Amino acid sequence: MKVNFTETVLRDANQSLIATRMPFSDFEGILETLDQAGYYSLECWGGATFDSCLRYLNEDPWERLRKIKAKVKNTKLQMLLRGQNILGYKHYPDDVVRKFIAHSVHNGMDIFRIFDALNDFRNIEVAVDETLKQGAHAQGCICYTTSPIHSLEKYAEMGKQLEELGVNSICIKDMAGIMGPQEAFDLIKALKESVKTPVFLHTHSTTGLGPVTYAKAVEAGCDGIDTAISSFSGGTSQPATESMQHALFQLGYETGLDVKVLKKINDFFKPLKSQYIATGLMDTYVLGTETDALVYQVPGGMLSNLIAQLKAQNAIDKLDEVLAETPKVRKDLGYPPLVTPMSQMVGVQAAANVLAGERYKNISKEVKSYLKGEYGQAPGVVDEELISKVLGDGKPISIRFADTLYPAFEKSKQEIGSLARNDEDVLSYIAFPQIAEKFFKDREEKESRTVSYTIIKKPEETR
Ligand code: CO
Repeated sequence: MKVNFTETVLRDANQSLIATRMPFSDFEGILETLDQAGYYSLECWGGATFDSCLRYLNEDPWERLRKIKAKVKNTKLQMLLRGQNILGYKHYPDDVVRKFIAHSVHNGMDIFRIFDALNDFRNIEVAVDETLKQGAHAQGCICYTTSPIHSLEKYAEMGKQLEELGVNSICIKDMAGIMGPQEAFDLIKALKESVKTPVFLHTHSTTGLGPVTYAKAVEAGCDGIDTAISSFSGGTSQPATESMQHALFQLGYETGLDVKVLKKINDFFKPLKSQYIATGLMDTYVLGTETDALVYQVPGGMLSNLIAQLKAQNAIDKLDEVLAETPKVRKDLGYPPLVTPMSQMVGVQAAANVLAGERYKNISKEVKSYLKGEYGQAPGVVDEELISKVLGDGKPISIRFADTLYPAFEKSKQEIGSLARNDEDVLSYIAFPQIAEKFFKDREEKESRTVSYTIIKKPEETR
């Protein structure tokens, strides 16, 4: 049996270890080698890469994609897409979702891993449909969480729903790295029994369970795993590519990977890692194993956010109380998976409940929107009292939120005007309005400087 490997060094590892600050110029030199390793796919775009390119790296994310594609000719390029949210935290109208996917395919994207934070598949339907229409690979995602309502049957049912949408494969996304080996075995087995499409597993090394979880998942028939080249593996990133290759090969699986090429890739990234540690971009803390997530049942990232938030409010002594309140808020909200943006919403609300000395005295704008149904259908039953507190006699919307939104692409295109040079620019602008606008203006300025420089230089050159 073959186990497919997705290399995450350019996206998730980059995002998890150095807040997605790796500029294209740092990894350009290894792209052709990455293409030779035998990976099933190379995750290189989506999530925070887009934002980070525009905001911090002064790079056009579309151009980055095209440049990667020019050097990675055989391996499929993969991106992470937040369904109707595309790359952000709010829902976009369907015309924007479709345009975004069409242009992504056009610029070189092959596989779209599409998820919704609530596993409300109405929110990924349009993205899946457009991906298939464009002839690309649609991978439907199930966000993994544990709760009294998240049973194996429920997950198997979700797998069937995804299959009905026509996805080419399914991915279980354990963004918090809390899935243990037995859970992985049971879950993959249940899914393999209920669906025909390949099933992939995505986890993180955060709690240290990653490698053993992957091994049991593969034993249960998992078709593919996500790993990061060893110098960018471990901690909040993925388990190491080379170690998983070694272990699975020993256990009798085919991996398709060339270990000599993997060594070259790691030799390339090793000095980069040292450089990032030296400049402080990589905090070695994220490389360690953090088991608190297992005790508190909250993702590591959410825990560090909570600690930072409480420290800022001079209330770190309330941490235990907030951690006790967190599962209660989650229950009141119908057990949403603790993935962005739900993890932030639940955490902030739990802190507010404790600090105010009264539950739901202050309710955040986001939680209000959630209760109105603007994020989609909650996985479980939402607390009635809480709903009536926010909505009065009103009811949460039952239709898909995007159905209440007007088409936005043409309007945004007019709004940004000539600063946008093509439809890709318009999409960048829709995703990150202020940041993209600033990026476009800087680009114009830079170019006008270059032009005047050329004019001044010219007479000298002709001499
Ligand atoms: Co991840």
